[in-house]
Amino acid sequence: MSKDIKIFGLGYFVPPTRLTNADMEKMVETSDDWITSRTGIKERRIASTESCSDLGAEAGRRALEQSGLSPEQITHLVVATFTPDYYCPSAACLLQQKMGLANIPCFDVNAACSGFTYGLEMCRGLAALHPDACILLVASEVVTSRIDFTDRSTCVLFGDGAGAAIVGTGGKGGSIRDVMLNSDGALAQLLTVKGGGSAKKMQLGDTVDSDFFVHMEGREVFKHAVKSMYGVAGEILARNNLRTEEIDLIIPHQANVRIIDALAKKLNAAPEQIYINVDKYGNTSAASVPIALAEAWETGRIKKGDRVLLVAFGGGFTWGSALLEF
Ligand code: ACO
Repeated sequence: MSKDIKIFGLGYFVPPTRLTNADMEKMVETSDDWITSRTGIKERRIASTESCSDLGAEAGRRALEQSGLSPEQITHLVVATFTPDYYCPSAACLLQQKMGLANIPCFDVNAACSGFTYGLEMCRGLAALHPDACILLVASEVVTSRIDFTDRSTCVLFGDGAGAAIVGTGGKGGSIRDVMLNSDGALAQLLTVKGGGSAKKMQLGDTVDSDFFVHMEGREVFKHAVKSMYGVAGEILARNNLRTEEIDLIIPHQANVRIIDALAKKLNAAPEQIYINVDKYGNTSAASVPIALAEAWETGRIKKGDRVLLVAFGGGFTWGSALLEF
């Protein structure tokens, strides 16, 4: 790839409604102590009436504002989500209209929690084909639309939100040095949302059953998340002749602080190299990495010249990593 492909605008948005662990205690048999010690989560944000494209449009507007671009300058829109507004049309087409973007190619990518890293690779491909492209990448999730709030093993873990980035070859910003992606469909059944899909058809008048919601084998997911994120982080570092200590900030998927701690330990990373905000937002799936990235940028945690490593893992299973240099 000849030209330097960059991220030159970042934004995030989380809905204002907070659900604390004390609130969860009133909904299911759980405790702040259990949730905090097993996950590190203290509270999460919940969409009330906002849809995936509503949250995404707000994050997109903020990224646009930061980049100094106007909506008409966006040439492509990619939305990473597994909780779109509808089965059809795509969340991207709805978001295009809400943001007042021009008639441009708009499409969704579903790689569950790895969606942002997958989206970055789509953007790199588009930018390589169209050197003047100015791509809006949004990762937006209303995970709680597919959460059974009577199932304590999942409902305490997730939250809603959106993150966005502008990607292209112009402007100043963080260079996307490398992206690596992977998946293993043999492990698909360990983390599912089946109901309403073509393999789990519904008839008029059917009521939803528990398959409509997120199901996961928590312990298995935990093991694979650590192994796969460690694997892909190691590979991208090796491919770029870098060691962990040469990375200024590692932004892992924010699912569970124990997964993040285990990853940090395997990578031999110091606590100050790891970004954590899962305590505030829970697991926002594809949105977790760009929310953390935009927040780290906004709060000055990322400085000019910094190397930043993104690492994600999610349903599929999918996993991926991106190396950025600001
Ligand atoms: N409150 C209190 N007790 C609970 C709760 C809860 N919210 N949830 C489960 N328990 C109970 C279980 O019923 C079980 O009780 P039992 O021993 O009487 O049967 C006990 O706690 C232990 O359950 P485990 O599932 O074995 O608990 P574990 O220590 O594995 O922690 C957890 C569960 C937090 C889900 C963990 O497995 C985990 O974090 N897994 C990874 C999940 C994840 O983050 N997935 C997302 C990554 S991929 C993506 O983002 C889509």
